[in-house]
Parts: sequence; structure tokens; C-alpha cells
Amino acid sequence: MAVATLGHVELLCPDIESSLEHFTRVLGFHESTREDGSIYLRAWGDWDTYTLILTESDDRIGLGHASFKVEADEDLDEYQERIEASGYDTRWLEPGAEPGQGRALRMDYPGSHPEHEHELELVYEMEKAEVPKEQRSRLKNQPQRYNDVGVGTRRIDHLNIMVPNVNECREWIEDVLDFNLRERVVYEGEEVGTWLSVTPIVHEIAFVYHERPQLNHVAWYLKYFGELFRVVEVIKDAPTGEIYSGPSQHGVTQANFMYHVEPSGNLFELFNGGYLIFDPDWEPITWYDDEIPEALAWWGEQYEWPQSEDQRPEAAPSK
Ligand SMILES: [Fe+2]
Ligand SMILES: [Fe+2]
Repeated sequence: MAVATLGHVELLCPDIESSLEHFTRVLGFHESTREDGSIYLRAWGDWDTYTLILTESDDRIGLGHASFKVEADEDLDEYQERIEASGYDTRWLEPGAEPGQGRALRMDYPGSHPEHEHELELVYEMEKAEVPKEQRSRLKNQPQRYNDVGVGTRRIDHLNIMVPNVNECREWIEDVLDFNLRERVVYEGEEVGTWLSVTPIVHEIAFVYHERPQLNHVAWYLKYFGELFRVVEVIKDAPTGEIYSGPSQHGVTQANFMYHVEPSGNLFELFNGGYLIFDPDWEPITWYDDEIPEALAWWGEQYEWPQSEDQRPEAAPSK
């Protein structure tokens, strides 16, 4: 029984039309389907039928839910028992409640929001992408032709959530969902950032400190390091999206990154690089106090941390 990987994330978008234009024309995502106020998208390297959901909202931005895939359908029942034993509620979504998705387990956890925002989900069954024939790759191990529309975003990677109780969230997701702690940041004795994964990548999920729970960012991977510079060229001159920081390299995770704000106001990271972990005895890395600036930006531009909504540039629907 195990959580296998991050499957998809749902962003709340008050300006869904501008967000859709941005994700498809500037970032190069492809629309798979739409249903009940949500638009389902994937990048060219995503094998699942969708990995990003844009959901129309009133004035709220942030995370609707983040869905992780488990290794087997029966894992869902075992995780439900564990989650409830840890003192948090669960609820089932029927197969098809989201298009292409089997039965799914939604849960509260120490970082969830009373109105069911920032929810986590576990799912086993998910439809694979049906790529139109003319967009298929001759490379049999790639779901779609390499696509350089706009930024040419490749595949889903991770998400980062701001919570007031980093330590509690980290311990819960380690104990209940079997995530592995990879790196953390400790300031004046308090854990203020923590990066965890279930695969060899350094993190599929991170929790960083903020007194008000909110989404920090979601992140997609690029094929080439040099594409980060292409990202700057494209977004700087695009009608939508505002650059926030980068290209730079984090010390934590060693990711080469670029953050920007999409038209609804959500922070989106595009990145390349990072490192992989294969050792089951991995000793988590801890960055302390005066090491924090280099943990955030090893080289390149230093940026405001923890990147809360009120620190970001105004999201321009149209420049
Ligand atoms: Fe889902
Ligand atoms: Fe990130």
C-alpha cells in the first residue's frame, strides 16, 4: 500500500477566461474537457487525461483540491481507516464525479480549510490522455509531440501549501500517508518549511509557514534548463501573466525555477533541474536560520518569502 505520485491539482480562478487563455496560449496546456464550471487541462508530457483543473470561483483564488494517486484501489479503504483513526474526516466521491476519475477519497487533515478548500484527495483509477492522432509523437515513450506553444510546459511536478502548523502537517502526512521527509527549514527552533515526497523527486508536496492557510504555488516541469529563459521571454511579453521571481536556483531541492502570477492571481512555478533520491535511508536535510537565504535562492535573485498572496504583483488579466 502506498501513495504513488501527484495526479492533479485544482486551482480556483475568479477570472477563468483569462486564466484559460493564459494556460493554453502562453503556457501551452491542452484542454481535455470541461464540466460544471471546471476546465480540465494537461501538458504535453502528462500521461493522464488531465493534471490541472481550473474552477470558476467568486473572488477566491488558491487550491480547490490536490489529488494523489495510490498504488491499488483497495489502498483507498486502508487509507480511509488510517485517516479516520488519526482524527480527521473523510468523504467518498463517486466514480465520474470528476471526469475520467474512479472513486476518490477526500479528506480533512491538519492543513485543510473549514470550507473544504485545500483538500487532499486519493484516487487509483484515472483515464489516460486521448491525444488526437495528428498530435501524437513518433517517440513511443512520450504521450504527445514535443510542444513549444508558448512556454511549452511539460508535466506536473508538485505543490506548496502555506499553513500555520508546518510541523503538525509534516508529521501527519508522514505518519498517515507514508510521505518521506526530504528537506526542511528551521528558523529560531521552529520548523517553517518542509519538503516531502513518495517518489525519488525531492518533493511532491511542501508546507511552509503562514498564519493564514493558503496555496503557495503549484509547479510544472520543463524539458530543458534553457526553457526557463524562454519562459521569461514569453511571459514578459505575453498579454497575460506577471513574473514574480527567477530564473534562479533554490538551495532546497536544487530546482532551477521561475515563478509567475497567472491572471486569476495564483502563483505558478516552472522549473527544471533538482536532484533525485534513491536511498531508503535518506537523512533529511535541515537548513537553519542564517542558511535560509541560500536555501531559498542559491544563486540568482532573492525573493520575498513565503510568497503570500499580499506579497505578489497585481495579476493583470490583460497587459
Ligand atoms: Fe480530483
Ligand atoms: Fe516549488
